[in-house]
Amino acid sequence: MDLLNSVLNWVVPPASLVMMAFAWPALTFITGCEWLYNTFNSEPMEDKVVIITGASSGIGEQIAYEYAKRGAKLVLVARRDNRLRLISENARHMGAKHVMIVAADVVKEEECRRFVNETINFYGRVDHLVNTVSLGHTFYFEEVTDTTVFPHLLDINFWGNVYPTYVALPHLRQTNGKIIVNASVESWLPLPRMSLYAAAKAALVNFYETLRLEVDHEVGITIATHGWIGSELTRGKFMVEEGAEMQWKEEREVHVTGGPVDDFARLIVAGACRGDAYVKYPSWYDIFLLYRVFAPKVLNWTFRLILPTHGGRRTSLVGTGRPISEGYGRPLFEGSPPRKLPSTFAPQSPQQLKME
Ligand SMILES: NC(=O)c1ccc[n+]([C@@H]2O[C@H](COP(=O)([O-])OP(=O)(O)OC[C@H]3O[C@@H](n4cnc5c(N)ncnc54)[C@H](OP(=O)(O)O)[C@@H]3O)[C@@H](O)[C@H]2O)c1
Repeated sequence: MDLLNSVLNWVVPPASLVMMAFAWPALTFITGCEWLYNTFNSEPMEDKVVIITGASSGIGEQIAYEYAKRGAKLVLVARRDNRLRLISENARHMGAKHVMIVAADVVKEEECRRFVNETINFYGRVDHLVNTVSLGHTFYFEEVTDTTVFPHLLDINFWGNVYPTYVALPHLRQTNGKIIVNASVESWLPLPRMSLYAAAKAALVNFYETLRLEVDHEVGITIATHGWIGSELTRGKFMVEEGAEMQWKEEREVHVTGGPVDDFARLIVAGACRGDAYVKYPSWYDIFLLYRVFAPKVLNWTFRLILPTHGGRRTSLVGTGRPISEGYGRPLFEGSPPRKLPSTFAPQSPQQLKME
């Protein structure tokens, strides 16, 4: 068996690459034809019902506007209902047929059940579920002194997608609906100081790839794996409002220009309506997947060259509780040390508002 595997290790990768090289033109042609067909038969969203979680900022907000322009009925979900109110106004001006806003914490199954039930009671159906909740971080793993941040990051970035999906799935089956997932290129191209975020995104992609096999003919799944997009998350998520559970400012050592959020939102909604399995932005990142599989050392060398090493850190220790006096240099951004997370988090006024 070992011998067989040793032989296959040498034979299968080059043979597959050669085969792919020959098949590439035909595959590209078929994909192009499919894309064209689906573009002309894109799902009309007029009067369709779309739930968007994480709609109070960034990509979620812009996705709401894209569906609004297509005349959909929206359910906007996040914890900051003051932001949702503003966004619902904008969405209505842009053409949304109706907007309902729900202040809810998607990490809690019962709150997800609440906003899905409210949607069904009010609209009678749900056609698309768009998951965009997330929380990023920028610390080296061993800097963490308060480990309560671990489950919290996984809760928002992983379970915060799974619970709404679980609750909405029976309704999505009835409408042959779609689930749209915001993963990240970091699901397979991890960067230092984002270990838990990258792990959660990888888990998310594997979860939805598996779910796709289980529900393929009834519910479509579009996975977006994007790189750098300008948003609250990339500008420095700063969650210090009442009820917020932590305060981390996002800071980057390498300054990369972010693609415009609204362009990306347009791509994602168009991709979902076309029934695309993936939306990638920018798509040239895909080439790194080849390096990841066939030449991981090249990626490691490159990252070591362009990113600060752990030893030479000049990082903010925000969110780790580690004092600056330990000799790590002044932080580029400063913030309070993390507060102890409450065991249960509820928005201050978990009210639901319906707006015509
Ligand atoms: N921006 C990028 O460059 C980039 C790159 C790759 C992937 N992504 C992914 O794209 C998606 C959107 O990112 P973004 O940049 O738009 O992020 P963002 O601006 O930080 O928005 C995150 C949203 O999640 C909501 N949220 C967080 N925790 C929640 C909870 N427990 N319950 C309900 N809502 C919650 C926030 O609203 P409240 O605080 O009001 O609850 C906010 O609306 C994320 O999945 C992110 O990982 C972004």
